[in-house]
Amino acid sequence: MHLLLLNGPNLNLLGTREPEIYGAETLADIEQQVAAKAEQLGAQVVSFQSNAEHELIERIHQASHESIDFIVFNPAAYTHTSVALRDALTAVAIPFSEVHISDPEQREPFRQQSFFSDIAVHVVKGLGTQGYLVATEQAIEFLTSQIR
Ligand code: DQA
Repeated sequence: MHLLLLNGPNLNLLGTREPEIYGAETLADIEQQVAAKAEQLGAQVVSFQSNAEHELIERIHQASHESIDFIVFNPAAYTHTSVALRDALTAVAIPFSEVHISDPEQREPFRQQSFFSDIAVHVVKGLGTQGYLVATEQAIEFLTSQIR
């Protein structure tokens, strides 16, 4: 099982970015924890973060040539704006989960809309950075149930 952990804009600043909302862990910490959890459960993870919409789109396209089975994706601010990223995910037809560290629905009105939730296999939000680990477990559970 191969997972892609994909993170959108400003998540490279985790650890220093609004720690009262996003916590103290860095993206490197999260990537390492996700890789360790996945390995325990028999899966491998590649990680990618970008601040640029087109790079995230290209990475999703590339995933379809790499036998990636599942994408764990925090689209960050693109959650609320990007039809193009949504279209990339439907184009490659790789199952994915939408992860948010905070709960966008409990925040400003402009964060209420997601272009991903209705097509995601799972939506994990408001669990802090732990949410990435929950999403990883759920992804592997989903893939395992598909194989059975
Ligand atoms: C976020 C929530 C988004 O609204 C915000 O733009 C982010 C991070 C989260 O993980 O809580 O950058 O996706």
